[in-house]
Amino acid sequence: MKGTSGFRCFVALFSLIVCATLMAPVVACAAPAAKVAAPVVAPAAKAAAPAVAKESAPAAKSSAALVAEDCAKCHPVPPADIESAGGKHKSDVSCLDCHASHRPATQNNIPKCSNCHEGKPHFQLKNCMECHKNPHKPLNIVLGPKVTEPCLSCHADQIKQLRENKSKHSALFCSNCHDVHRKIPQCVKCHKPHSAEMTQADCKKCHKAHKPTVVTYAQDVPNKDCGACHKPAMNLLAGTSTRHKAVLCVKCHKDKHKMVPDCTQCHTKLHPAAILKKFPKCSMCHSIAHDLNNWPAVKDGGTPAAKPAKEHKKK
Ligand code: HEC
Ligand code: HEC
Ligand code: HEC
Ligand code: HEC
Ligand code: HEC
Ligand code: HEC
Ligand code: HEC
Ligand code: HEC
Ligand code: HEC
Ligand code: HEC
Ligand code: HEC
Ligand code: HEC
Repeated sequence: MKGTSGFRCFVALFSLIVCATLMAPVVACAAPAAKVAAPVVAPAAKAAAPAVAKESAPAAKSSAALVAEDCAKCHPVPPADIESAGGKHKSDVSCLDCHASHRPATQNNIPKCSNCHEGKPHFQLKNCMECHKNPHKPLNIVLGPKVTEPCLSCHADQIKQLRENKSKHSALFCSNCHDVHRKIPQCVKCHKPHSAEMTQADCKKCHKAHKPTVVTYAQDVPNKDCGACHKPAMNLLAGTSTRHKAVLCVKCHKDKHKMVPDCTQCHTKLHPAAILKKFPKCSMCHSIAHDLNNWPAVKDGGTPAAKPAKEHKKK
């Protein structure tokens, strides 16, 4: 820079020397330099432009004069939309960033989303405005009835679970359940609970939406939840006079549905080996876990009756 202005100064000085004025160079050295520099400074250029355009192109003049505050005079809706729900289209950009020009100078001043949004998988989708219906309310998202693929541009876990644990939910579209973005649907909107007292809050104790057939449960699920489908087992256990009565279903049938425990999982202080060698199964003496030691019930019906024998009391 210094070199350039020095050179300009030299040129100016040279021309002024030609003029043969001795005091002038000091003043002129600054003045022409400023003049040469002026055209490359943008504001000066803009300021100069209208003066030229005035005569030759009136349309360009009116377009250049439009500012964001003018738009609302003729277009009341977009500014109101942006005001109410513009989000980052309100805070981070203005009307003119998207609509750079106007009729009649420009027939189509509608921007492409990709002018500003690129570089993420989500921005590779087709038809942005199918979901972002109104660019002036960008986060008002409307989902069609059959949407799955576009969701995957942001959510990867759920499809993995749905595919790796095939169930009838795997055949549904994401938006069958999530018809509004971020909405969590209630299972009971589509399904009847297993029993009258069971509510929506109970479902997630045993099910996960994206792998509904993989039933798992925590150690505090009450017996009545299992009893919704296993009445005989529940009634039998509730009627026993042995200490198994106080043991929860889920303490024995741990963690995963249909798991059946071994007695020795909990009982480690065992009878003498000689006895167990002769009677290798605990059930030979103790009958079944839900109705321990209740032999009359077994003999009567061949299988343990749902109705416990009240008179039986061990110990
Ligand atoms: C003096 C009234 C007036 C002002 C001020 C005005 N517009 Fe327009 N605008 C129009 C008219 C008229 C049309 C054509 C409407 C039509 O054909 O339906 C239009 C059309 C548009 C369109 C639709 C695209 C097109 O070319 O058809 C956009 C976008 C637009 N204006 C944006 C703006 C923005 C942004 C501003 C402020 C910077 C603005 N307008 C200021 C009158 C105005
Ligand atoms: C982030 C970019 C963006 C911003 C910011 C934006 N617009 Fe738009 N605008 C669009 C797009 C895209 C369309 C086309 C909508 C369509 O095709 O339905 C549009 C359409 C329009 C239209 C024509 C259709 C209509 O809804 O009447 C007008 C007028 C308009 N905008 C005015 C404005 C005004 C005024 C502002 C500022 C208050 C503004 N826009 C801010 C992107 C934007
Ligand atoms: C002139 C540039 C520009 C255009 C054109 C534009 N956007 Fe944006 N948009 C932005 C900026 C800047 C942001 C804020 C930064 C970001 O989130 O990337 C934004 C944010 C958004 C957001 C998030 C809003 C929020 O409040 O979090 C959505 C959704 C969006 N844009 C959708 C669109 C869609 C759909 C289109 C096309 C109809 C579009 N944009 C066109 C500049 C633009
Ligand atoms: C199938 C519906 C759908 C389509 C199609 C779609 N979007 Fe989105 N978009 C969404 C959803 C849902 C969000 C998340 C909004 C939220 O966070 O609540 C989103 C968020 C965004 C965001 C803000 C978050 C971010 O990642 O920056 C931008 C910007 C955006 N979309 C731009 C676009 C563009 C550009 C296109 C077209 C290439 C597009 N969208 C197509 C549904 C869609
Ligand atoms: C542009 C990225 C984007 C797209 C596309 C997108 N989402 Fe989201 N989604 C988000 C973000 C960001 C959140 C908020 C995440 C958070 O709070 O941890 C979210 C949240 C959710 C939530 C609520 C999560 C919760 O913990 O409450 C659900 C449900 C959801 N999305 C489903 C969908 C479905 C279904 C689709 C397709 C129709 C979709 N999303 C498309 C970005 C997206
Ligand atoms: C939008 C409706 C909808 C919602 C919400 C919903 N489901 Fe389903 N679910 C279905 C449909 C449809 C089927 C298949 C029914 C059929 O073919 O008989 C199904 C099947 C199932 C199945 C059997 C799966 C199989 O492969 O046999 C289970 C278990 C299930 N749902 C549990 C749940 C649970 C738990 C929730 C809540 C986390 C839930 N569902 C939420 C619609 C829904
Ligand atoms: C049968 C209905 C149903 C279907 C189909 C479904 N979801 Fe969900 N989704 C739910 C429910 C219910 C929850 C709440 C968590 C739960 O109960 O396991 C949920 C939770 C979510 C969450 C919050 C985070 C999480 O994993 O818990 C996201 C994100 C989500 N779903 C995205 C999707 C996407 C993406 C798809 C399609 C690939 C999809 N969902 C398919 C019902 C469904
Ligand atoms: C105590 C655990 C438990 C709870 C709580 C529970 N379920 Fe289930 N559910 C199961 C088991 C176990 C099966 C599978 C039975 C089988 O293997 O056939 C099942 C099967 C289903 C089925 C498919 C078979 C059928 O009956 O249609 C649906 C649908 C279902 N549950 C919905 C729900 C809903 C909705 C809730 C909440 C109201 C819920 N479940 C609460 C354990 C539970
Ligand atoms: C929605 C009904 C339903 C619920 C709720 C339910 N189950 Fe089941 N359960 C079944 C069905 C159906 C079978 C299979 C029966 C068969 O194969 O004859 C079964 C089988 C079983 C088996 C037997 C496995 C075998 O090898 O015979 C056990 C143990 C079991 N369930 C325990 C539980 C426990 C513990 C709970 C509560 C956490 C529970 N179940 C909740 C429906 C249910
Ligand atoms: C999940 C652990 C668990 C499993 C599995 C289990 N039990 Fe028990 N059992 C207990 C507990 C706890 C008690 C009560 C012990 C106490 O109060 O000291 C008990 C008590 C008993 C008693 C004494 C009953 C009484 O009140 O006089 C017998 C007999 C017994 N169990 C036999 C069995 C047999 C046989 C099996 C297998 C069919 C079995 N148990 C499986 C936990 C278990
Ligand atoms: C030959 C018959 C027989 C066999 C086989 C048998 N038991 Fe027993 N068990 C008994 C008798 C008898 C008692 C004492 C009953 C009482 O005092 O009430 C008893 C008591 C128990 C008690 C209660 C001890 C206490 O402290 O109250 C447990 C627990 C027990 N058995 C577990 C088992 C387990 C586990 C097996 C299988 C490995 C098993 N038993 C096999 C006959 C048997
Ligand atoms: C003390 C441990 C224990 C408890 C508590 C327990 N079970 Fe069982 N359950 C067993 C064992 C062990 C078997 C295998 C048969 C046997 O040896 O008694 C079994 C068998 C079953 C079976 C398959 C055979 C049948 O009877 O239908 C079902 C279903 C079942 N249990 C459900 C339940 C339910 C529901 C509860 C709670 C109401 C429960 N169990 C409580 C240990 C237990």
